[in-house]
Amino acid sequence: ALRILSDGPLKGLKALVTSGPTYEAIDPVRFIGNRSSGKQGHAIALALAAAGAEVTLVAGPTALADPTGCKTVRIESAAEMLAAVQKALPADIFVAAAAVADWRPAAEAAQKMKKRDGGEPPRIDLATNPDILATIAAPGPKRPRLVIGFAAETEKVVEYATAKRQKKNSDWILANDVSAETGTFGGSDNKVHLITADGAEEWPRLAKTDLAQRLVARIAATLKDKSK
Ligand code: CTP
Ligand code: CA
Repeated sequence: ALRILSDGPLKGLKALVTSGPTYEAIDPVRFIGNRSSGKQGHAIALALAAAGAEVTLVAGPTALADPTGCKTVRIESAAEMLAAVQKALPADIFVAAAAVADWRPAAEAAQKMKKRDGGEPPRIDLATNPDILATIAAPGPKRPRLVIGFAAETEKVVEYATAKRQKKNSDWILANDVSAETGTFGGSDNKVHLITADGAEEWPRLAKTDLAQRLVARIAATLKDKSK
């Protein structure tokens, strides 16, 4: 287990992390969701706290316990996640590890939708969710000093992730291959490329907890460098 170092390298810094899936309601009993377990985001929040940062974790529905030493805010939808993130600002470090649903049902039915005998299945109109990473990374007085996103890809991983870094104005992107055969979603390890302004760096396959610690060491080194 990680020891919380109140005097660690990130002492005095505020970190904000999103983790887990979002659930987008169709009606009172049904939702659109995804396979994110929250393991990677929660491990990053814990590692940041262990390095001495003051951490707020905004978490979608997961089976995980709230990580030690973090303030955890539990939400369900992307809209709720954005509101909770904005409320937690300002922060020095923002890590967007959540698998935010790209779309939500345009309207939530007030009552449980019923089958009608012989009737057509319902059509669900979708609306686009706000992009939390792009919103927080946009230039402005509240922009965190270091913004880190993920890119979940099933093909052309580095190419697509590099484009996402620029499009979302994120400082770094951790690009991961989430093809079914990699077992990344729900699994305990992860294989990423770290994409920065300097290019792509391939990291070895690591336990999600070890990846979190390696990322936090890199964050600490970079912020120390920047403040010189
Ligand atoms: N993200 C976000 N808000 C959204 C969608 C994505 O904050 N509404 C963040 C994720 O947390 C992640 C990054 O953006 O850090 C990339 O998410 P990803 O799903 O890979 O990219 P998208 O931009 O949604 O593009 P697509 O799903 O079409 O590949
Ligand atoms: Ca997406």
